[in-house]
Amino acid sequence: ETIDWTPEMAEKEGYDYFMIKEINEQATAVRNTLTERNNIQKIIDDLEDINRICFVACGTSYHASLTGKYLLESLAGIPTDVILASEFKYSTNTLNEHTLVIFISQSGETADTLKALDVANESSQTLGIVNVAGSSMTRRAKYVIQTQAGPEIGVAATKTYLSQLTAIYIFAALMGKNEELLEKLNKVPSYIDELLKDADVVKEIAKIYNVNRDGENVNDFFFIGRGYSYPVALEGALKLKEITYIHGEGYAAGELKHGPLALIDEDIPVVVVLPPGENHRKTMSNLEEVKSRGAKVLAIGASNDKDLISKSDDVFIINPEVDDIIAPLVYIVPLQLLSYYVAIERDLNPDQPKNLAKCVTVE
Ligand code: G6P
Repeated sequence: ETIDWTPEMAEKEGYDYFMIKEINEQATAVRNTLTERNNIQKIIDDLEDINRICFVACGTSYHASLTGKYLLESLAGIPTDVILASEFKYSTNTLNEHTLVIFISQSGETADTLKALDVANESSQTLGIVNVAGSSMTRRAKYVIQTQAGPEIGVAATKTYLSQLTAIYIFAALMGKNEELLEKLNKVPSYIDELLKDADVVKEIAKIYNVNRDGENVNDFFFIGRGYSYPVALEGALKLKEITYIHGEGYAAGELKHGPLALIDEDIPVVVVLPPGENHRKTMSNLEEVKSRGAKVLAIGASNDKDLISKSDDVFIINPEVDDIIAPLVYIVPLQLLSYYVAIERDLNPDQPKNLAKCVTVE
Protein backbone atom coordinates (compact mmCIF):
# COMPACT_ATOMS: atom_id res chain seq x y z
CA GLU A 1 0.00 0.00 0.00
CA THR A 2 1.25 3.48 -0.81
CA ILE A 3 0.35 6.84 0.68
CA ASP A 4 -0.02 9.75 -1.70
CA TRP A 5 1.89 12.70 -0.32
CA THR A 6 1.04 16.17 -1.53
CA PRO A 7 3.89 18.73 -1.54
CA GLU A 8 2.17 20.45 1.37
CA MET A 9 2.03 17.27 3.45
CA ALA A 10 5.72 16.75 2.76
CA GLU A 11 6.45 20.28 3.93
CA LYS A 12 4.57 19.68 7.17
CA GLU A 13 6.85 16.71 7.87
CA GLY A 14 4.09 14.64 9.44
CA TYR A 15 2.60 17.40 11.58
CA ASP A 16 -1.11 18.23 11.10
CA TYR A 17 -0.45 21.94 10.70
CA PHE A 18 2.44 24.31 10.16
CA MET A 19 1.70 26.01 13.45
CA ILE A 20 2.40 22.91 15.53
CA LYS A 21 5.43 22.08 13.41
CA GLU A 22 6.77 25.59 13.99
CA ILE A 23 6.05 25.45 17.73
CA ASN A 24 8.16 22.30 17.78
CA GLU A 25 10.98 24.03 15.92
CA GLN A 26 11.38 26.72 18.58
CA ALA A 27 14.35 25.23 20.41
CA THR A 28 16.19 25.15 17.08
CA ALA A 29 15.09 28.71 16.28
CA VAL A 30 16.54 29.91 19.58
CA ARG A 31 19.72 27.84 19.22
CA ASN A 32 20.35 29.15 15.71
CA THR A 33 19.69 32.75 16.70
CA LEU A 34 22.17 32.43 19.59
CA THR A 35 24.89 32.10 16.93
CA GLU A 36 24.27 35.77 16.02
CA ARG A 37 26.05 36.88 19.19
CA ASN A 38 29.27 37.99 17.47
CA ASN A 39 27.38 39.91 14.82
CA ILE A 40 25.35 41.63 17.49
CA GLN A 41 28.51 42.55 19.40
CA LYS A 42 29.95 44.13 16.22
CA ILE A 43 26.86 46.30 15.84
CA ILE A 44 27.10 47.39 19.47
CA ASP A 45 30.80 48.24 19.02
CA ASP A 46 29.90 50.38 16.05
CA LEU A 47 27.10 52.32 17.75
CA GLU A 48 28.12 55.66 19.18
CA ASP A 49 26.70 57.70 22.02
CA ILE A 50 23.30 56.10 22.33
CA ASN A 51 21.31 57.58 25.20
CA ARG A 52 17.85 56.44 24.22
CA ILE A 53 16.30 53.42 22.50
CA CYS A 54 12.96 53.25 20.81
CA PHE A 55 11.36 50.02 19.56
CA VAL A 56 8.84 50.13 16.72
CA ALA A 57 6.81 47.08 15.63
CA CYS A 58 3.36 45.52 15.12
CA GLY A 59 1.54 42.48 16.47
CA THR A 60 3.68 39.75 17.95
CA SER A 61 6.82 41.72 17.13
CA TYR A 62 5.44 44.53 19.30
CA HIS A 63 5.16 42.11 22.22
CA ALA A 64 8.79 41.06 21.74
CA SER A 65 9.65 44.78 21.82
CA LEU A 66 7.89 45.27 25.16
CA THR A 67 10.15 42.62 26.68
CA GLY A 68 13.08 44.54 25.17
CA LYS A 69 12.13 47.66 27.13
CA TYR A 70 12.23 45.81 30.46
CA LEU A 71 15.55 44.20 29.55
CA LEU A 72 17.37 47.26 28.25
CA GLU A 73 16.29 49.51 31.07
CA SER A 74 17.23 47.03 33.78
CA LEU A 75 20.42 45.63 32.24
CA ALA A 76 21.87 48.60 30.38
CA GLY A 77 20.12 51.53 32.09
CA ILE A 78 19.08 53.04 28.76
CA PRO A 79 15.67 54.77 28.68
CA THR A 80 13.58 52.76 26.21
CA ASP A 81 10.22 53.39 24.56
CA VAL A 82 8.04 51.02 22.59
CA ILE A 83 5.79 52.42 19.87
CA LEU A 84 3.25 50.63 17.69
CA ALA A 85 4.38 51.19 14.10
CA SER A 86 0.91 52.32 13.05
CA GLU A 87 0.99 55.03 15.77
CA PHE A 88 4.53 56.16 15.12
CA LYS A 89 3.59 59.02 12.83
CA TYR A 90 1.14 60.48 15.35
CA SER A 91 3.68 61.10 18.09
CA THR A 92 5.94 64.09 17.88
CA ASN A 93 9.25 63.04 16.51
CA THR A 94 11.78 63.71 19.26
CA LEU A 95 14.35 61.31 17.86
CA ASN A 96 17.89 62.49 17.29
CA GLU A 97 21.29 61.07 16.37
CA HIS A 98 21.73 59.69 19.90
CA THR A 99 18.57 57.61 19.57
CA LEU A 100 18.73 54.04 18.34
CA VAL A 101 15.41 53.01 16.81
CA ILE A 102 15.00 49.24 16.71
CA PHE A 103 12.50 47.83 14.25
CA ILE A 104 11.29 44.30 14.85
CA SER A 105 9.65 42.42 12.01
CA GLN A 106 9.35 38.80 11.02
CA SER A 107 8.63 39.56 7.38
CA GLY A 108 10.62 42.76 6.99
CA GLU A 109 7.78 43.94 4.74
CA THR A 110 5.11 45.28 7.11
CA ALA A 111 4.03 48.64 5.63
CA ASP A 112 3.51 50.47 8.92
CA THR A 113 6.93 49.42 10.19
CA LEU A 114 8.75 50.29 6.96
CA LYS A 115 7.11 53.69 6.86
CA ALA A 116 8.34 54.42 10.39
CA LEU A 117 11.81 53.17 9.43
CA ASP A 118 12.04 55.70 6.61
CA VAL A 119 11.15 58.51 9.02
CA ALA A 120 13.64 57.33 11.67
CA ASN A 121 16.43 57.01 9.11
CA GLU A 122 16.31 60.78 8.64
CA SER A 123 17.28 61.57 12.22
CA SER A 124 18.50 58.49 14.07
CA GLN A 125 20.50 55.30 14.00
CA THR A 126 18.31 52.39 12.94
CA LEU A 127 18.52 48.67 13.57
CA GLY A 128 16.22 46.06 12.04
CA ILE A 129 15.69 42.68 13.71
CA VAL A 130 14.30 40.65 10.83
CA ASN A 131 13.67 37.04 9.95
CA VAL A 132 13.31 37.18 6.17
CA ALA A 133 16.71 37.62 4.55
CA GLY A 134 16.77 40.12 1.70
CA SER A 135 13.47 41.72 2.73
CA SER A 136 12.91 45.49 2.39
CA MET A 137 13.82 46.10 6.02
CA THR A 138 17.21 44.43 5.65
CA ARG A 139 17.98 46.86 2.83
CA ARG A 140 16.67 49.99 4.52
CA ALA A 141 17.84 49.75 8.14
CA LYS A 142 21.37 50.93 8.93
CA TYR A 143 22.13 47.83 11.02
CA VAL A 144 20.48 44.42 10.72
CA ILE A 145 20.25 41.45 13.03
CA GLN A 146 19.01 38.39 11.23
CA THR A 147 16.88 36.10 13.38
CA GLN A 148 17.42 32.48 12.46
CA ALA A 149 13.96 30.94 12.77
CA GLY A 150 13.83 29.71 9.15
CA PRO A 151 10.68 30.23 7.07
CA GLU A 152 7.46 30.55 9.08
CA ILE A 153 4.29 29.56 7.21
CA GLY A 154 1.62 29.69 9.95
CA VAL A 155 0.00 33.13 10.01
CA ALA A 156 0.27 33.38 13.80
CA ALA A 157 3.91 33.97 14.69
CA THR A 158 5.49 31.39 17.01
CA LYS A 159 9.10 30.44 16.32
CA THR A 160 9.89 33.87 14.89
CA TYR A 161 8.71 35.41 18.19
CA LEU A 162 11.09 33.20 20.14
CA SER A 163 13.94 34.08 17.80
CA GLN A 164 13.17 37.81 18.04
CA LEU A 165 13.21 37.54 21.83
CA THR A 166 16.52 35.69 21.64
CA ALA A 167 18.09 38.45 19.53
CA ILE A 168 16.74 41.11 21.91
CA TYR A 169 18.05 39.23 24.96
CA ILE A 170 21.52 38.93 23.44
CA PHE A 171 21.49 42.59 22.47
CA ALA A 172 20.44 43.71 25.96
CA ALA A 173 22.84 41.32 27.72
CA LEU A 174 25.77 42.54 25.59
CA MET A 175 24.77 46.18 26.08
CA GLY A 176 24.67 45.54 29.83
CA LYS A 177 27.81 43.32 29.75
CA ASN A 178 25.85 40.64 31.53
CA GLU A 179 27.73 37.40 30.95
CA GLU A 180 25.52 35.55 33.42
CA LEU A 181 22.41 36.17 31.34
CA LEU A 182 24.23 35.08 28.18
CA GLU A 183 25.05 31.81 29.94
CA LYS A 184 21.44 31.37 30.98
CA LEU A 185 20.27 31.88 27.40
CA ASN A 186 22.24 28.85 26.27
CA LYS A 187 19.98 26.65 28.35
CA VAL A 188 16.73 27.94 26.87
CA PRO A 189 16.59 25.46 23.93
CA SER A 190 16.76 22.50 26.31
CA TYR A 191 14.04 24.01 28.54
CA ILE A 192 11.77 24.39 25.51
CA ASP A 193 12.36 20.84 24.33
CA GLU A 194 11.73 19.52 27.83
CA LEU A 195 8.43 21.40 28.04
CA LEU A 196 7.27 20.23 24.60
CA LYS A 197 7.36 16.64 25.85
CA ASP A 198 4.30 17.63 27.93
CA ALA A 199 2.34 19.05 24.99
CA ASP A 200 -0.38 16.44 25.58
CA VAL A 201 -1.02 17.91 29.01
CA VAL A 202 -1.89 21.23 27.34
CA LYS A 203 -4.09 19.35 24.87
CA GLU A 204 -6.15 18.01 27.78
CA ILE A 205 -6.23 21.44 29.46
CA ALA A 206 -7.47 22.96 26.17
CA LYS A 207 -10.42 20.55 26.15
CA ILE A 208 -11.38 21.63 29.67
CA TYR A 209 -10.97 25.38 29.10
CA ASN A 210 -12.68 25.41 25.71
CA VAL A 211 -16.08 25.08 27.38
CA ASN A 212 -17.79 26.46 30.48
CA ARG A 213 -19.57 24.50 33.22
CA ASP A 214 -22.63 24.10 31.01
CA GLY A 215 -20.56 22.64 28.20
CA GLU A 216 -20.95 25.75 26.04
CA ASN A 217 -18.06 27.32 24.15
CA VAL A 218 -16.19 29.87 26.23
CA ASN A 219 -16.11 33.35 24.60
CA ASP A 220 -13.68 35.28 26.77
CA PHE A 221 -10.35 34.62 28.44
CA PHE A 222 -8.04 36.75 30.53
CA PHE A 223 -4.26 36.38 30.61
CA ILE A 224 -2.40 38.13 33.41
CA GLY A 225 1.23 38.61 34.37
CA ARG A 226 3.54 41.26 35.77
CA GLY A 227 7.02 42.50 34.91
CA TYR A 228 8.61 40.20 32.37
CA SER A 229 5.46 38.10 32.38
CA TYR A 230 3.21 40.96 31.30
CA PRO A 231 4.18 40.87 27.60
CA VAL A 232 3.87 37.07 27.80
CA ALA A 233 0.24 37.52 28.90
CA LEU A 234 -0.35 39.94 26.01
CA GLU A 235 1.13 37.53 23.50
CA GLY A 236 -0.84 34.59 24.94
CA ALA A 237 -4.05 36.59 24.49
CA LEU A 238 -3.11 37.61 20.94
CA LYS A 239 -2.45 33.99 19.93
CA LEU A 240 -5.87 33.02 21.28
CA LYS A 241 -7.67 35.79 19.38
CA GLU A 242 -5.83 35.10 16.15
CA ILE A 243 -6.46 31.41 15.81
CA THR A 244 -9.51 30.57 17.95
CA TYR A 245 -11.51 33.83 17.54
CA ILE A 246 -12.06 33.84 21.29
CA HIS A 247 -11.82 37.24 22.93
CA GLY A 248 -8.54 36.93 24.80
CA GLU A 249 -7.52 39.87 26.91
CA GLY A 250 -3.98 40.28 28.19
CA TYR A 251 -3.63 42.48 31.25
CA ALA A 252 -0.98 43.60 33.67
CA ALA A 253 -1.88 41.64 36.81
CA GLY A 254 -1.75 44.74 39.00
CA GLU A 255 -4.06 46.67 36.70
CA LEU A 256 -6.95 44.17 36.90
CA LYS A 257 -8.42 45.89 39.95
CA HIS A 258 -8.71 49.14 38.00
CA GLY A 259 -11.51 47.91 35.79
CA PRO A 260 -11.52 44.45 34.28
CA LEU A 261 -12.08 42.76 37.63
CA ALA A 262 -15.71 43.84 37.14
CA LEU A 263 -15.94 41.36 34.27
CA ILE A 264 -14.58 38.34 36.08
CA ASP A 265 -17.03 35.52 36.78
CA GLU A 266 -17.31 31.74 36.50
CA ASP A 267 -17.49 31.81 32.72
CA ILE A 268 -14.20 33.59 32.11
CA PRO A 269 -11.07 31.52 32.56
CA VAL A 270 -8.00 33.39 33.76
CA VAL A 271 -4.56 32.24 32.71
CA VAL A 272 -1.91 33.39 35.19
CA VAL A 273 1.72 33.57 34.08
CA LEU A 274 3.48 33.00 37.37
CA PRO A 275 7.17 32.12 37.30
CA PRO A 276 9.16 32.17 40.55
CA GLY A 277 10.91 35.43 41.39
CA GLU A 278 10.38 38.78 43.00
CA ASN A 279 6.94 39.40 41.46
CA HIS A 280 5.55 36.06 42.46
CA ARG A 281 3.88 37.06 45.70
CA LYS A 282 1.99 40.00 44.22
CA THR A 283 0.75 38.10 41.20
CA MET A 284 -0.32 35.29 43.51
CA SER A 285 -2.58 37.72 45.34
CA ASN A 286 -4.08 38.74 41.96
CA LEU A 287 -4.70 35.06 41.31
CA GLU A 288 -6.55 34.85 44.63
CA GLU A 289 -8.61 37.93 43.71
CA VAL A 290 -9.92 36.38 40.50
CA LYS A 291 -10.37 33.00 42.13
CA SER A 292 -12.54 34.49 44.88
CA ARG A 293 -14.78 35.94 42.15
CA GLY A 294 -15.34 32.48 40.79
CA ALA A 295 -12.98 32.44 37.81
CA LYS A 296 -11.51 29.18 36.68
CA VAL A 297 -7.76 29.62 37.00
CA LEU A 298 -5.09 28.04 34.88
CA ALA A 299 -1.63 28.84 36.19
CA ILE A 300 1.72 28.38 34.50
CA GLY A 301 4.41 27.99 37.13
CA ALA A 302 7.19 25.98 38.74
CA SER A 303 6.94 22.46 40.16
CA ASN A 304 7.96 23.38 43.70
CA ASP A 305 5.31 26.08 43.91
CA LYS A 306 2.93 24.38 46.33
CA ASP A 307 0.80 27.49 46.78
CA LEU A 308 0.18 27.71 43.09
CA ILE A 309 -0.95 24.14 42.86
CA SER A 310 -3.36 24.42 45.78
CA LYS A 311 -4.83 27.77 44.71
CA SER A 312 -5.38 27.17 40.98
CA ASP A 313 -7.83 24.88 39.24
CA ASP A 314 -5.19 23.63 36.85
CA VAL A 315 -1.47 24.14 36.59
CA PHE A 316 0.95 23.65 33.75
CA ILE A 317 4.28 23.01 35.39
CA ILE A 318 7.52 24.28 33.92
CA ASN A 319 10.21 21.84 34.91
CA PRO A 320 13.12 22.45 35.45
CA GLU A 321 12.52 25.80 37.09
CA VAL A 322 13.62 28.86 35.08
CA ASP A 323 14.45 32.34 36.38
CA ASP A 324 12.00 35.20 36.11
CA ILE A 325 14.26 37.00 33.62
CA ILE A 326 14.34 34.22 31.03
CA ALA A 327 10.83 32.99 31.77
CA PRO A 328 9.33 34.82 28.72
CA LEU A 329 11.30 32.51 26.43
CA VAL A 330 9.78 29.43 28.03
CA TYR A 331 6.40 30.39 29.50
CA ILE A 332 4.98 31.50 26.15
CA VAL A 333 5.19 27.98 24.74
CA PRO A 334 2.29 26.44 26.74
CA LEU A 335 0.19 29.48 25.81
CA GLN A 336 0.90 28.91 22.10
CA LEU A 337 -0.04 25.26 22.57
CA LEU A 338 -3.21 26.21 24.42
CA SER A 339 -4.41 28.35 21.50
CA TYR A 340 -3.43 25.68 19.01
CA TYR A 341 -5.33 22.91 20.79
CA VAL A 342 -8.40 25.08 21.41
CA ALA A 343 -8.45 25.83 17.65
CA ILE A 344 -8.27 22.09 16.98
CA GLU A 345 -11.13 21.48 19.45
CA ARG A 346 -13.19 23.99 17.47
CA ASP A 347 -12.28 22.48 14.10
CA LEU A 348 -10.52 25.64 12.96
CA ASN A 349 -7.49 25.73 10.71
CA PRO A 350 -4.82 27.40 12.86
CA ASP A 351 -2.57 28.07 9.88
CA GLN A 352 -5.03 30.32 8.09
CA PRO A 353 -7.12 32.39 10.48
CA LYS A 354 -9.94 34.32 8.87
CA ASN A 355 -9.32 38.00 8.01
CA LEU A 356 -5.60 37.81 8.79
CA ALA A 357 -2.52 37.79 6.59
CA LYS A 358 1.02 36.69 7.30
CA CYS A 359 2.35 39.96 6.04
CA VAL A 360 0.42 43.22 5.92
CA THR A 361 1.73 45.49 3.16
CA VAL A 362 -0.88 48.25 3.49
CA GLU A 363 -0.93 50.98 6.14
C1 G6P B 1 0.65 40.36 10.81
C2 G6P B 1 0.82 38.93 11.27
C3 G6P B 1 1.29 38.89 12.73
C4 G6P B 1 2.57 39.71 12.89
C5 G6P B 1 2.36 41.14 12.38
C6 G6P B 1 3.67 41.88 12.30
O1 G6P B 1 -0.43 40.95 11.48
O2 G6P B 1 -0.39 38.22 11.14
O3 G6P B 1 1.57 37.54 13.11
O4 G6P B 1 2.96 39.72 14.23
O5 G6P B 1 1.83 41.13 11.06
O6 G6P B 1 4.44 41.29 11.28
P1 G6P B 1 5.98 41.43 11.12
O7 G6P B 1 6.29 40.62 9.87
O8 G6P B 1 6.28 42.89 10.91
O9 G6P B 1 6.61 40.88 12.33
